[in-house]
Amino acid sequence: MTLFIIIYFKSTIFHPSNVALVNNQLQKIEVNQASTEYQEGQDKLTRSLFDEKNKDHWKMQAQFALQAKITTFLNTNVAKNVILFLGDGMSVATLAATRVYLGRKYGYLGEEVKLSFETFPFTGLAKTYCVDSNVADSACSGTAYLSGVKANSGTVGLSGGVKRGDCEGQRNSSNSVTGLMDWAQRAGKSTGIVTTTRVTHATPAAAYAHSADRKWEADVDMPRHGLRCEDIASQLVRGRVGISIDVIFGGGRKNFYPVTEKDAHGHYGIRNDGRNLIREWLLKKESIGSRPKYIYNKQDLEKLNSKYDSVLGLFSFDHMPYHLEAEDDDPTLSEMTQKAIEILSQNRKGYFLFVEGGRIDTAHHETKARKALDETAELAKTVETALKMVNLEDTLVIVTSDHSHTMTYSGYSKRGADILGLANPKFNASDNLPYSTLSYANGPGFKPHQGFRRHNLILDDMNDLNYTYPSLVPLARETHGGEDVAVFAKGPWSHLFTGNYEQNFIPHAIGYASCIGPGITKCKS
Ligand SMILES: *[C@@H]1O[C@H](CO)[C@@H](O)[C@H](O)[C@H]1NC(C)=O
Ligand SMILES: *[C@@H]1O[C@H](CO)[C@@H](O)[C@H](O)[C@H]1NC(C)=O
Ligand SMILES: *[C@@H]1O[C@H](CO)[C@@H](O)[C@H](O)[C@H]1NC(C)=O
Ligand SMILES: [Zn+2]
Repeated sequence: MTLFIIIYFKSTIFHPSNVALVNNQLQKIEVNQASTEYQEGQDKLTRSLFDEKNKDHWKMQAQFALQAKITTFLNTNVAKNVILFLGDGMSVATLAATRVYLGRKYGYLGEEVKLSFETFPFTGLAKTYCVDSNVADSACSGTAYLSGVKANSGTVGLSGGVKRGDCEGQRNSSNSVTGLMDWAQRAGKSTGIVTTTRVTHATPAAAYAHSADRKWEADVDMPRHGLRCEDIASQLVRGRVGISIDVIFGGGRKNFYPVTEKDAHGHYGIRNDGRNLIREWLLKKESIGSRPKYIYNKQDLEKLNSKYDSVLGLFSFDHMPYHLEAEDDDPTLSEMTQKAIEILSQNRKGYFLFVEGGRIDTAHHETKARKALDETAELAKTVETALKMVNLEDTLVIVTSDHSHTMTYSGYSKRGADILGLANPKFNASDNLPYSTLSYANGPGFKPHQGFRRHNLILDDMNDLNYTYPSLVPLARETHGGEDVAVFAKGPWSHLFTGNYEQNFIPHAIGYASCIGPGITKCKS
C-alpha cells in the first residue's frame, strides 16, 4: 500500500505503461523528470507487475494508466516533421500475437508486454474498404491513407473514376490525385520513402505514382496492345512528385535498368526500353542542383554522410529478404530508417517520411505466420529507433496498417504458451486432433482432410520458419481481411486520430497538424 501512495502522489510523471519492448528488449519506459524516489517506485513496480495473482498488481496497473490519461495534455504544436509507419497487412491479431512472440523471446509470458508503438497515447480504428471492393488491397488503401481519396482496387494515385487496367483513365490528368508527398514538397519540406518491398510495389507507389494497375511497375509489365501508359519506375524518375523525393530506400532494382545491362551482382535488368533509370535519376537530380548518391548495399548505407542530400538505395534485385533470412549486406528496416531521418533532418523546414514494413503482408499471403510476426517485431523496433531520434514536441509519429489478413489467434492455451505452436492439446478438436493457436481462414496452408479427420499437426515441424499455418479454404495465396486496422499516434495533434473513421481521413488530419495540403490546417483554419 505504501508503494501505491508514493506512486499516487508522484503520478504526474508516470507513463501509462511502465514497461515496453524497446529494441526487442523489455525495458522500463524512460521518463524525463525521473527522481530517485520515482526510480525506486518504478523498480518495485516492475517486479510486482509480474505478480498477477496479487489483486493490488492489477489495481495499481490500472490506476497508473488512469493517472497518465487524466494528466495527458493535448499537444497542439505545428508538426514540423511527420513520420508515417505502415505495417502492410498488420492486423490487430498480428499485433497481439507479436507481443507474445517477442515477450517469450525475452523471458516473459508475453501477453502483458507492449510493442513500442502500443505505448502511444492515442489510438483509433480505420475502415479500409475501397470504392469497388469490400476488402482493400495495398494499392487502393495506399491511395486512401497517403492522398486522402478512396480509390478502386489495384489502382494507385487515381480517383475512383478509373477502373483497374484503364490506361486511358490513367492518362487523363483530371483523374490523378496527389497527397502527403506532394503537399510536403510544396511546403518546402524534404520527403522520403523507406520500404522492405520493391520501391515500385503498390504501397510505396501510392506515394508518388498514378497507375491504373499496380502491376505496371516496369515497361515490360505494360499492356502490349492499345494505349501506352507510363510505368511506375519511370514515374519515380520523371514524375514531378517522384523526382522530388529526397530519400528512396528499398528493393526492386530489376525495374530500373535494361535487359542488356548487369548490376554489380551480375544480374540483368528487366526493362525492354533500354533506359537505365538509376543513371537518369542521378542526372535529373544533378540538373536540379541536388547532390545525389546511388547505393546498393549495407556498407554503402553505413558510409553515407551529409555530403549528399538525395539518396536512392536499391538494396535488392526484388523485394528485400525477410529479416529471418537476411544476409550481412542487407540493411534492416531500422538501419534504413535511421539513415533516412539523418538525411531528411537537415532541412530546417522539416520532412515527411513514409516507412513501410512490407513483408508482414507477403508472409501472411504464404500463411507463414512466424515470418509475419517477426517482420512485425522489426517494424516495432524501427519505430523505437525513430522515437530516439525525433523531438515529439514538433514531430508527429503515426503507426498504422493498410488492411487486415485472415489470421486468427484462438483456443485457450495457458499464458505464455508458444504462440506459434498448438492450442492446448488437452482439448483436442471434435476429430480428436490438436489445432494451432494461429490459423488462417484461407491460403496455401490448407492440409487435406481424411474423411472427418484433419491433418495431424503433431507430424509437422512448426518451428520451421517456412511452415505454412493451417487454413480452412485452399487458396494459392491467402487473402486480405476486411475489418478495421488500428492507428497509433504520438506527438502534435495525435489526439485527432482517436475514434473510428474512414482510412482516407488520415492524410487530412496529418495535413492539419503539419500545415500542409489544400484542406484546413492548424495554420489556416
Ligand atoms: C478526363 O476526365 C474527366 C473527369 O473524369 C472527364 O470529364 C473528361 O472528359 C476526360 N477527358 C478525356 C479527354 O477523356
Ligand atoms: C490429441 O491428439 C493428439 C494427436 O492425435 C494425441 O497425441 C493426444 O493424445 C490427444 N489428446 C487427447 C487429450 O486426447
Ligand atoms: C524458406 O523458403 C525460402 C524460399 O521460399 C528458401 O530460400 C529458404 O531456404 C527456406 N528456409 C528453410 C529454413 O527451409
Ligand atoms: Zn497483400
